Amino acid sequence: MIRLATVPEVRTLVAEWRRASLRVALVPTMGALHGGHLSLVREAKRRASRVAVSIFVNPLQFGPNEDLARYPRDLEGDVAKCSAAGADAVFHPEPAELYPPGFDTSVEVARLAKGLCGERRPGHFRGVATVVTKLLVLFSPDVAVFGRKDYQQLKIVERLALDLGLPTEIVGAPIVREPDGLAMSSRNAYLSPEERRGAPCLREGLLAARRLFAAGERDVEKLREAILIPLAANGARMDYVELRDRDTLLPERTARATTIALVAAFIGRTRLIDNEILGGEMRVG
Ligand code: PAF
Repeated sequence: MIRLATVPEVRTLVAEWRRASLRVALVPTMGALHGGHLSLVREAKRRASRVAVSIFVNPLQFGPNEDLARYPRDLEGDVAKCSAAGADAVFHPEPAELYPPGFDTSVEVARLAKGLCGERRPGHFRGVATVVTKLLVLFSPDVAVFGRKDYQQLKIVERLALDLGLPTEIVGAPIVREPDGLAMSSRNAYLSPEERRGAPCLREGLLAARRLFAAGERDVEKLREAILIPLAANGARMDYVELRDRDTLLPERTARATTIALVAAFIGRTRLIDNEILGGEMRVG
């Protein structure tokens, strides 16, 4: 597996792949790789003959009081995992490589970035959209794979690729879960053993809402309440619980099969997110 640290190195490798008419996939990550990321690499391998993974803890998407400094980092471990998962290249730039002195350009997806995580984390999605645009322009991949756990992020990336006319197909891969239902996340590493035991409450709430929906409940408030019960029972502090249209992310007045329930909650100091389409196909694991 090839390691790349600079923009010219990426350009040279991608040009080689292109000369050989190879189909290229990119999996953008911030490292601290877990089974969820590795499932993105496997999805990318199914869709392309060369897979690059970027590992970059993007300072632009962290607010002043967020966890940039303590965000888990394990570059050598991540490189080994990418190699074992069959990636062909890993790009791990220093911040100055992507943000040269005087960097003054940003990408903003206006409406989709409002509300939900965008409201709680001002500037977060500007940082995400900016770095993802830079990576998509640099690699110009045929396909880029993102996890559905960060659902608002996925919608924003789909939108920016469409709006900017980028030639990349954006793929959203299913959430990968621990055996007890907790969605895999690099931030799970922050949880104490006791917090970890309570953390599946986000998923429990979402499943309760799905069951209620399947039993015929369409009242958005009642469905929200079903999600809140296990959060409260496990001492989680709700950040938001929202029911939105899965395509537009606009609020729903009445729940439909295409409604997505999105949850963000603090378990201790750790903020976790999860989501579930109320009438969507049920996935185990
Ligand atoms: O989801 C992430 O890990 C990050 O937001 C991304 C897409 C790699 C951009 O930094």
